[in-house]
Amino acid sequence: MLDKSNSHYFQSSLENLKNQHLYRRLRLADKISSPENTNARSTVCDFSSNDYLGLSRNESLREILKKLDIPTISQCSSRLISGNTSTIERLERILSKHRKTENSLVYPTGYMANVGVISCIAGENTAIFSDELNHASIIDGCRLSKAIVHIFPHNNTRELEKIIKNSKQNMKILITEGIFSMNGDFAKLDEIARIAKQYNCILVVDDAHGDFIVGNKLLKDYSGSPGLFGVEHDVDIHISSLSKGLGCFGGYVSCPELIRNYLINKSRSFVFTSSLPDFLCEIAEYSISIAKKGILQEKLNNNINYFIETAREYNIPGLKIKNFSPIVPLIIGQEEKTITTSRKLEEQGFYVQAIRYPTVKRNEAQLRISLSTKHTYEQISELIKNIAHFLKR
Ligand SMILES: Cc1ncc(COP(=O)(O)O)c(C=O)c1O
Repeated sequence: MLDKSNSHYFQSSLENLKNQHLYRRLRLADKISSPENTNARSTVCDFSSNDYLGLSRNESLREILKKLDIPTISQCSSRLISGNTSTIERLERILSKHRKTENSLVYPTGYMANVGVISCIAGENTAIFSDELNHASIIDGCRLSKAIVHIFPHNNTRELEKIIKNSKQNMKILITEGIFSMNGDFAKLDEIARIAKQYNCILVVDDAHGDFIVGNKLLKDYSGSPGLFGVEHDVDIHISSLSKGLGCFGGYVSCPELIRNYLINKSRSFVFTSSLPDFLCEIAEYSISIAKKGILQEKLNNNINYFIETAREYNIPGLKIKNFSPIVPLIIGQEEKTITTSRKLEEQGFYVQAIRYPTVKRNEAQLRISLSTKHTYEQISELIKNIAHFLKR
């Protein structure tokens, strides 16, 4: 049992969060329903998931999962002990082909991939240049490394170049997301790739939200944001998650063989943890084969375009829309108002999560709307009508 002074410390810290409308509660997701299953009376339609292609509930994937011969639920060991299998290595070869890199390395999650890669490749004499809106796992990787970390203003490549020019470190790492997870906008990857080349930086792109969603549309390759900008070969290290566009679970890094070998030897979140279970690798492999057909992305794009057209009609303040991006932030500002708006939408049958500090800056709270192939035009237009109604009063 905690003694009185210790429990007082935790209690007052939580009270403080409550007073600032920053307190977080776990809620049961049982009543949040995938768009195709929404029964307006008992469930709310999910506009907050990262399952942009609807693959987490895809019927043929679920059928395959039922039929999989799963001899073991988990390898119960790290990759370097007895957890490495031909199934994981096959998935890594598929991911390397997808990302057009020499090799890949699967991590248990995208979070662990970011933390494990950045903290491992950056040493005391390294300078890291990181966008201010980069995901918490990138921030934590930077913190764990002993490098000098420079945070540059979001997508401000002019400022980035100034900071890099003044850096005295020999080894430089430039890291950005592809599609930013909360803002939904794209990094200026063409400019960023040019800067990385000019100043000899190792370019790392975490494309958790663009992977399998965008890419070179003409080639229908959907290899992510670097593909969309035509700079995939300028990215040295690609990091991503299997738990978003693919609707599965896990994380991975695609990179040169040399970096993979370095990570296998030195990346602590790879070495000192159990491997991703084989059946999750197998299901990811099937999910990739469906995603690679490019049909779901076309459907998603139709929904994004429909959202854009309808939102323009209603002229909603604070709504930031980008072509091709399934993430639409609605910036409200005050934390309390954002929570209230989220609750009102929930009463009308729409689940749109309120995002607050520290995920975004203080007083820049937002509703993060995420679109999926599974939404119907009717669900999208009803959501927009309701938002317009609540915000214009
Ligand atoms: C940009 C970004 N990178 C990494 C992650 C972590 O991925 P995972 O959920 O696989 O741990 C997330 C998760 O939200 C993310 O948004």
